[in-house]
Amino acid sequence: MRHSTGYIFLFAGAICIICAIVVCSSEVSLSELHKNNARLDKQKNILYAAGLARSSENLSSEDVQLRFGRVKAIAIHVEDGELAPEIDPDFYDARKAAVDPKAGRSAPPNASAIKRMARHAIIYHILEDSGEVGMIVLPIEGYGLWGTLYGFLALDADAKTVRGLTYYQHKETPGLGGEVDNPDWKALWPDRVAFDESGEVAIEVIKGQAGLPVGDPHRIDGLSGATITSRGVTNMLHFWLGEDGFGPYLKNFTQVNNDSIK
Ligand SMILES: Cc1cc2nc3c(=O)[nH]c(=O)nc-3n(C[C@H](O)[C@H](O)[C@H](O)COP(=O)(O)O)c2cc1C
Repeated sequence: MRHSTGYIFLFAGAICIICAIVVCSSEVSLSELHKNNARLDKQKNILYAAGLARSSENLSSEDVQLRFGRVKAIAIHVEDGELAPEIDPDFYDARKAAVDPKAGRSAPPNASAIKRMARHAIIYHILEDSGEVGMIVLPIEGYGLWGTLYGFLALDADAKTVRGLTYYQHKETPGLGGEVDNPDWKALWPDRVAFDESGEVAIEVIKGQAGLPVGDPHRIDGLSGATITSRGVTNMLHFWLGEDGFGPYLKNFTQVNNDSIK
């Protein structure tokens, strides 16, 4: 059977339109699912950092919601660490804000290759049964060897003792820098102390092996064969715990906590 050229073009055009409609409608219908999955993944990672869940656990979305009931998301101004009630933590996207001319700004010079940063950040308080803050979870990011690592650092309510560290996105090599995901390495973090006596950021991933937290509180074993990623982890912690990152917020938090104890 032979068809005219017009018929062939018409037929191809109709197929293109049908395919475009199918692709667009599945994109629209799946975008909500995609957003929900991204939110769930973020919540899981906050729980992992805080030690409220283990990555080996098979958590349903209900399990995550139940455990996340103890987590309070709080928007802050990064520059002075003050609360930012004008920002809704549920809808704020710090990565988008960082590249927005108004919501973001150039980052001060730093060893983590962070070029832009958002003016606001969402941090998380993990609440005790009494309603008091038991932990603070901070979002962190910075360059490793192949790209930016994104994660969360959990600190005790003393705002200096580490309770956990986790990365949820990176491009480091599996078996080398990718060992940032190794549960054995992550288990080395709890009880390390992020700041020294004078309040300077002192936490450091060293080349080689560190001692136990009680005798060697500021140092963590390096990732073998991955000195560059290890250095990247140190750099990003120094940036985000320092004056250009969450330093002002942590100072405010400690001040308010101390005042409430007096
Ligand atoms: C294919 C390949 C992948 C690598 N991936 C990483 C990595 O993810 N992180 C890292 O720090 N070093 C990685 N390295 C090694 C670095 O190039 C560099 O040699 C290393 O960081 C030095 O660490 P070392 O002093 O502990 O040997 C990789 C090397 C190769 C050849």
